[in-house]
Amino acid sequence: MNILLSGEFEAAELHVWLQSLGAALPDAHWLGRDQALAVADTVEVAVVANPPPGSLLGLPKLRLIQSLWAGVDRLLLDPTLPPGVPIARMVDPAMNASMAETALWATLALHRGYFDYALSQRQGLWQPRPQRRADSVNVLVLGLGQMGLSAARRIAQQGYRVSGWSLRPRPDTLDLDGLVCHAGASALPELQAKSDIVINLLPLTAATQRMLDSRFFAALPRGAGLVNLARGAHVVDADLLAALDRGHLAHAVLDVFHTEPLPSDHRYWSHPNVTLLPHVAAQTDPSSASQVVAANVRALLEGRSLAHLVQRERGY
Ligand code: NAP
Ligand code: GLV
Repeated sequence: MNILLSGEFEAAELHVWLQSLGAALPDAHWLGRDQALAVADTVEVAVVANPPPGSLLGLPKLRLIQSLWAGVDRLLLDPTLPPGVPIARMVDPAMNASMAETALWATLALHRGYFDYALSQRQGLWQPRPQRRADSVNVLVLGLGQMGLSAARRIAQQGYRVSGWSLRPRPDTLDLDGLVCHAGASALPELQAKSDIVINLLPLTAATQRMLDSRFFAALPRGAGLVNLARGAHVVDADLLAALDRGHLAHAVLDVFHTEPLPSDHRYWSHPNVTLLPHVAAQTDPSSASQVVAANVRALLEGRSLAHLVQRERGY
């Protein structure tokens, strides 16, 4: 079968993807856009990684758009996306585990003051600080989907007091390693008021964009830490910098930004209370992700239900 593979790939990266996808679906022919257009009537599947807008035009038989990215916010911005074609996003337990590791690392580092000790070392200062027990530290995880739930449970397993927040109440509240789940806008103020650490793992939608603003930060206790592992556009940068500058927030760990790579003159680079990562909180693993793609392509061919479908009207 002919499959369009389209996205922002560097040459070496494309090679790795072609090998992994080829091993997972040995009967498939992987085509670039021009090749796919030449046989447009035979292309039923597109596997995409934030392709340039317009990349999916001219494929009348398309029946599945499979994203290699977990977040589909950029994909959904393409006004030429063929309407009615199901979009599946990447859901891979290996990615969830990576995200949980990053979130746990950030929690431990904020709680135990490791970012401050790194700064003290550079300043030649021997400066012990008081230690708190993990079970007195309140962590709030925004978003309880694939990434948020894995992260929240992993942190709860280490003895932190973890609350999670989602749009709709979770059906399963048992056996969540002590994680307490909340839902809806009305639940948020009470959670914010007691949060020592907030970890953002929301999808970027019309409702969540610019949600982390001055009002949000003001509702947190003085000295709280922010960890943004979701999307840069969740944050109003000027408001975050203001909250950090006046010491209301103690530290921010940021993996994602409005513009990536982060422009070299951005204040985040040099802010003493910001720790940056270059969008690596949970990278897609080509070998396991290719198995996820293959499972969905087989489901399509065999007439079974597709997994991990995006609800376009909700934006995630
Ligand atoms: P997901 O499975 O779709 O989960 C989204 C969660 O957010 C759900 O619990 C959902 O609630 C909740 N939610 C959505 N809108 C909400 C709202 N308005 N108010 C409250 N809760 C809301 O998403 P995911 O796969 O976990 O991805 C989470 C984020 O991580 C995304 O932004 C994604 O782009 C990002 N990401 C980053 C990296 C990285 O390396 N930095 C890697 C992968 C993903 P319901 O359960 O009620 O629907
Ligand atoms: C990474 O940010 C992803 O959405 O897969």
